[in-house]
Amino acid sequence: MASSGGISDQLFVSVKLESPRLAELDLAPHLFGSHLVPGSWDPCKALPLERAATAVWEFSCVVPSQHESLDFKFVLKRKDDSSQYIIEEGPNRPLGCQSNEFEMRTAVFKLNEGKEVLECKVQVETEMLSPFDLAASWRAHQEYFQPSRVRGTHDVTINPGLEGRAKNGFASGLELDLEKYVVPTPNMGSGVVYAANLTENPRSLLQTGSSSNNDTTKDILHSSTKGDSSSNHYVNTMKSAIGGHAPSLEEQRAMFVDRGVGSPNFARPTKETFSMSNFKLDSESKGMPAAEGAVAAAAVADQMYGPKEDRKLAIVLVGLPARGKTFTAAKLTRYLRWLGHETKHFNVGKYRRLKHGTNQTADFFRGDNREGVEARNEVAALAMEDMLSWMQEGGQVGIFDATNSTRIRRNMLMKMAEGKCKIIFLETLCNDQDVLERNIRLKVQQSPDYAEQTDFEAGVQDFKERLTYYEKVYEPVEEGSYIKMIDMVSGKGGQLKINDISGYLPGRIVFFLVNCHLTPRPILLTRHGESMDNVRGRIGGDSSLSEAGELYSRKLASFVEKRLKSERTASIWTSTLQRTILTAHPIIGFPKIQWRALDEINAGVCDGMTYDEIKKCKPEEYESRRKDKLRYRYPRGESYLDVIQRLEPVIIELERQRAPVVVIAHQAVLRALYAYFADKPLEEVPNIEIPLHTIIEIQMGVAGVQEKRYKLMDAIHPTAGL
Ligand code: F6P
Repeated sequence: MASSGGISDQLFVSVKLESPRLAELDLAPHLFGSHLVPGSWDPCKALPLERAATAVWEFSCVVPSQHESLDFKFVLKRKDDSSQYIIEEGPNRPLGCQSNEFEMRTAVFKLNEGKEVLECKVQVETEMLSPFDLAASWRAHQEYFQPSRVRGTHDVTINPGLEGRAKNGFASGLELDLEKYVVPTPNMGSGVVYAANLTENPRSLLQTGSSSNNDTTKDILHSSTKGDSSSNHYVNTMKSAIGGHAPSLEEQRAMFVDRGVGSPNFARPTKETFSMSNFKLDSESKGMPAAEGAVAAAAVADQMYGPKEDRKLAIVLVGLPARGKTFTAAKLTRYLRWLGHETKHFNVGKYRRLKHGTNQTADFFRGDNREGVEARNEVAALAMEDMLSWMQEGGQVGIFDATNSTRIRRNMLMKMAEGKCKIIFLETLCNDQDVLERNIRLKVQQSPDYAEQTDFEAGVQDFKERLTYYEKVYEPVEEGSYIKMIDMVSGKGGQLKINDISGYLPGRIVFFLVNCHLTPRPILLTRHGESMDNVRGRIGGDSSLSEAGELYSRKLASFVEKRLKSERTASIWTSTLQRTILTAHPIIGFPKIQWRALDEINAGVCDGMTYDEIKKCKPEEYESRRKDKLRYRYPRGESYLDVIQRLEPVIIELERQRAPVVVIAHQAVLRALYAYFADKPLEEVPNIEIPLHTIIEIQMGVAGVQEKRYKLMDAIHPTAGL
């Protein structure tokens, strides 16, 4: 036996058997074999396959990757009399022991004493699992395999199945209709929102300078289309360079010389402008992140020793249409904001629609349509100007979202950015035709460009035509600092190529992007069931569950079983505090992972006190926290910013996961996690509503992030929601 017994060398095995005749003949497929079940080669002890589709049955399990000869055979049992069975013909089948094995071989059964032959298709697939992917085959194998597979790693457990089921009265707690428990979502819409609509409003096109995108749009459109556009930087730069007239394509090409990313001059702070006593880490000190820990440390180092990297950063997207640029940009914006960096997402398409209307046909995007090219370059320059002005006012990271598919365009942007910010190109490439087709259709469904197109297929055709025009002139990035995301959105691997990337923030961005994908999967967030300390109104501590809390834990188990029944794998994450572990306890069949990072905010010297006691005995602490709950750090404890900082690995891991995750944690921690998904400003984090006994389902997928809430129980105790 070569298994190391560690959790890192687990192999997920899926065995499928397909035949439409099995159901007709009322036969239930099983498998049996060496080491699969005590009693090995006894067909009476064979394991049932689960019906995965009308004519497909599946068995899945997790085994050590280097397992010793696990052979098996299929056996068909009559549904009305399982003592009657038919074993497949031929030799035993070996259960795969390497990753990515794929085998297809038919299984032959002789029916009616050999008079009839039934052939079924067989497919065996294997996949190596990382500890966090820890894909327990929660449907069948968990009832037979012992949790010893993961022993030795205290943080990971799998509940033994049968015992758990019996004890918890498994299916009794909740009716099947989960929709009955849905409650309105107070913060985030549950509908699909086109990501580009959520980007910055074009201030250079909005006369009033107001940030609201409302009915004034028409007036603005009118005035900006008839008005002289010579005030903008792009046209002025061009005109002055070529003697007064608007530049032709060739002239544009000649004017911009190829160069690397500029090195902006940032004034190194002098002794007068910077000292430890006047250094303040708050939202007023412009350019400084409102964050703690590593983010703050990097920012302080920059201020003290002069920037090792440029403090203003422009991430300039590059890529053909429908390559997931806007989703990637939106995701990155959300992440950086959550970490405390002033970040804004500028979408050039939004500028184009505002200035030139929403119903431009593919023709507008032709590479040889001079007017079209100029119009598009102009709106790009307007968006860039807005972004640079915003940076001068204190913005830190600008995400510039457009195709930027030619070198000329990128040169124009680099020239504009010179001395003002550092540019990193982020190119998204996708070669997966299925993903492209899906993206194209999604785009036509959601983009305001096709809002008035009543014929969906005609919209798809027009968009494909637009795409071919872009393809003709597309020049992949080979200049300056860049990150290329190749097939990352497909969810099937992909890779990142980087060039000339250095510094703290670019490093974090690369790390974030390498973990991102768009495979749809739900994330379920819930607080633990009501604890004894909740009942007593005490904060912190490590108490067990109240009666109501225990009831919730059972209901939650039932909910999870039903909600995730069609998922192949999933995992349950808890903190290391017993109220979350106890809440997770009745959930069976899924790997459970304890994270220290998910522990509740550390209330330091106030741990175990009620809010009234803090107010009475430590009035100055009470007052400081009331004034700035985000930054207030309990003496010998933590602030919300500290909590956010320590949750970063959790967010990265949630982004990386492809299977559903149930996170059972605490109020402050869930506020911080939720703020990430809902893109809430940091200032709002400490007051986000996260009620007890409620499940917040976050759906992550190609269309962005959506939310649904289920309330499994009514509020029981007045202090429970504290
Ligand atoms: O009261 C429950 C609780 O989880 C405490 O343990 C924790 O200190 C508190 O919530 C966090 O909420 P707030 O930041 O509003 O005090």
